[in-house]
Amino acid sequence: MTHTSSTKEIPAVGAIPKHIAIIMDGNGRWATKRFLPRVAGHVKGVEAVRGIVEACARRGVSYLTFFAFSSENWRRPAEEVSLLMRLFVTALEKEVAKMHANNIRLKVVGDLARFDPQLQNMILAAEQKTANNQGLTVTVCANYGGRWDIMQAVNRLQKERAAAGLADQEITEDQLSAYLSMAYAPEPDLFIRTGGETRISNFLLWQLAYSELYFTDTFWPDFDAAALDLSISSYQNRERRFGRTSAQVSEQSAQQESK
Ligand code: IPE
Ligand code: IPE
Ligand code: MG
Repeated sequence: MTHTSSTKEIPAVGAIPKHIAIIMDGNGRWATKRFLPRVAGHVKGVEAVRGIVEACARRGVSYLTFFAFSSENWRRPAEEVSLLMRLFVTALEKEVAKMHANNIRLKVVGDLARFDPQLQNMILAAEQKTANNQGLTVTVCANYGGRWDIMQAVNRLQKERAAAGLADQEITEDQLSAYLSMAYAPEPDLFIRTGGETRISNFLLWQLAYSELYFTDTFWPDFDAAALDLSISSYQNRERRFGRTSAQVSEQSAQQESK
């Protein structure tokens, strides 16, 4: 199922964001500041994920997406990479049953083939178990890169079109977006990056075209429900125009209200 792109439909001002996408950054610095190994920051970071999932479910957010491991993160020391993998396995072991009990649907997107087969099987099992849940959809982006996503979509689409004898026809945005790895979700309304850096780091490149961006210096392990509320209020005070003028947007929302 594909959704109407949020670049086409203007959500009401003051609405809760339907889709929040987060770059969880600052785990290492959180730990270093406390003279702890970086690993300790990642462990604490998993707890922060739990808190934010719960807070978003309570606030009626429909889609929550976390950047957990980027295609570039393989460049880190082998020891840190393997610890992150182990943490991922433990988190799945511990959290999936709870998520399922809370009606949460879990999705994991990215180039999963590079992961250990045991981890791949766990991911598949978790997705299958929670597939029919109707509550919050939590997506974990693992070995994910925005460029990887666009390229895998182009390649899959091209292959199918070649097989159907349509390879020489132009493709549209809607056709391509149906092949992106998060085609099941609307585009993020609110993008959050913790940890003080103000960059996208190859996250959802296509889907962030018109998202509202929110950057905070708070390190990810310290990002709690109160910090989330600050980001949501910031979002709620913004006027999303998608290229239109402010006057056009106000007129449209007045019309919607009188309906
Ligand atoms: C984000 O925190 C977690 C991952 C990338 C897995 P970092 O590990 O990047 O923390 P800093 O940026 O070094 O503080
Ligand atoms: C981005 O964080 C990726 C994740 C949070 C998984 P990084 O800390 O790896 O980003 P850069 O490389 O500093 O931009
Ligand atoms: Mg970082």
